Amino acid sequence: MCGILGYVGPRAAAPLLLEGLRRLEYRGYDSAGLALLHGGAVTVTRRIGPVTSLAEAVDPAAAGTTGLGHTRWATHGRVTEANAHPHLDGAERIAVVHNGIIENHAAIRALLEGEGVRFRSDTDTEVLPHLIRKFYQGDPLEAVRAALHAVQGTYGIAVLFADHPGVVIAARNGSPLVVGKGDGETFIASDPQAIAGFTRHVVYLEDREIVRLTAEGWELTRLDGAAVTHTVEVLAEELVWSDKGEFHHHMLKEIHEQPESLRRCLSGRVVPEEGGARLGGFDLTNREIATISRVAVVGCGTSYHAGVVGTAAMEQLARLPAYAEVASEFRYRNPVVDPHALFLAVSQSGETADTLGAVREIQLKGGRVMGVVNAVGSSIARQCGRGVYVHSGPEIAVASTKAFTSQVAALLVAALMFGRTRHLGAEEGRRFGEDLLAVPKLVEAYLAHPGPIAQAVELLSEAPFVFFFGRGVSQAVAMEGALKLKEVAYLPCMAYPAAEMKHGPIALIDASTPVVAVVPTDGMRAKTLSNVQEVRARGARTILVHAEGDEDAPALADISIPVPRTRSALVSPLLTVLPLQLIAYQVGIALGRNIDRPRNLAKSVTVE
Ligand code: F6R
Repeated sequence: MCGILGYVGPRAAAPLLLEGLRRLEYRGYDSAGLALLHGGAVTVTRRIGPVTSLAEAVDPAAAGTTGLGHTRWATHGRVTEANAHPHLDGAERIAVVHNGIIENHAAIRALLEGEGVRFRSDTDTEVLPHLIRKFYQGDPLEAVRAALHAVQGTYGIAVLFADHPGVVIAARNGSPLVVGKGDGETFIASDPQAIAGFTRHVVYLEDREIVRLTAEGWELTRLDGAAVTHTVEVLAEELVWSDKGEFHHHMLKEIHEQPESLRRCLSGRVVPEEGGARLGGFDLTNREIATISRVAVVGCGTSYHAGVVGTAAMEQLARLPAYAEVASEFRYRNPVVDPHALFLAVSQSGETADTLGAVREIQLKGGRVMGVVNAVGSSIARQCGRGVYVHSGPEIAVASTKAFTSQVAALLVAALMFGRTRHLGAEEGRRFGEDLLAVPKLVEAYLAHPGPIAQAVELLSEAPFVFFFGRGVSQAVAMEGALKLKEVAYLPCMAYPAAEMKHGPIALIDASTPVVAVVPTDGMRAKTLSNVQEVRARGARTILVHAEGDEDAPALADISIPVPRTRSALVSPLLTVLPLQLIAYQVGIALGRNIDRPRNLAKSVTVE
């Protein structure tokens, strides 16, 4: 979603800001802009479309060593140049970039219009420069502070003033910001990715903090004026920017990175000789594990699907009551939060507003919540304080692939660890641990010979509607496969628990509706194959994802895609999801879609 970047220092700001904005592109956006401060004036350039359009419009030799950049994902107001950021006050002396939503913007706008202010955009953001101007009496920090006291909603903002070269003011409430310290230069960004190429020394702002940046450093206080100190953190190696390498798209590259990302996630955590696992980040004693009453996972989209697999494993391995829930529903239903339960917040970006909101709701109600997060130092990781990093490395494509398998793997490790303390014998634990550790090699083997993906693509590319189904953990894989195909190929499709088809959706089946069935070799295989027969009897053509060596499944498939066999059914999602990722990617290619940045989507969904 929206991205913020700011620079103060000795170097020309424009090229740095454009480079940083390119690194924010993966988050999804529809317009971009720059503000440069030079010669006592602010120059703003904005363009709809990609950062390259903005770069073409900015003079490469543009002067100005203080500047702001922004990528906008439209919320209030259409995608137009006027609505793109930065926004200016009436005198064009104050420029603001903003992420988040100003909830009382209509009331503030009416008030300011009553005082003669003329607005130039339809955005909620534009109230900010006008409001800051209203409170400005020569001190930029105090003007921003006063304006923010009048504002309700969420924001990460960065502001520059024509009267104050070499100064940027930034503040955060609900939208992440990170300050970066270089050698005689200072950065501010909404995502450490944007500045990872320039500096590795950062300070994360907390909610309701405000900072005054200069080339020499920063002064950080709370909005109420109280002093705060934060230690400088060093960005993880993983944040080093990754390019597409030999691949045409980040999505394909990330699919192929899964053997390695899974190895990183599992390494040192599964201990077969003890029949168990260790996740130090959870910081739970065996006694605490033994007294967990139940496990609840919250997350959105793909992360929620990983949670569905994880909770099935918690139930089966640890005999813990467990369920997964979409974070946006959980947070607003006034949930019962059992203080003995363990909540897990699953998120790739660690910035998803609904998941972060759910974490806060759990904490407010006295619950215990830990993160299962990819982005190191992200808001959810920091808000939870405890948890595990899944270590899939930077995921740039909007459609999540390697983060999903790492999230599933991390949750399976957690289930093994809890299981070993509560229910599982050493031998069962050892077998499960071995099966987990075998996965990266199996993934590698599958990706080297992925089977008849091209045939599946041919069938699906022409279909008006596609069904996905499975049972047990394979139902979560079916949901994930359908989500990928919607996102990347824009194909209407639906995932349903296989046995539920006959309770309604089977009415939609005819020869034009292919069915993708996920049928690993587990206790539900025979029953799922019966469900496959039911849809075939109604004319559906079927694509079956099944274990290698299954002799029955191919007979019921128009297209049969074998994946390597694993002993543990709970591990099968790490393999059965692979062809579904490849199918979504290849159908997207066949239909000419924008693979890495599908329409309307953002990588990091920081609005609720
Ligand atoms: C799907 C996808 C989204 C995210 C969801 C949650 O490919 O990427 O559904 O999974 O927006 O995002 P995170 O995991 O960052 O909380």
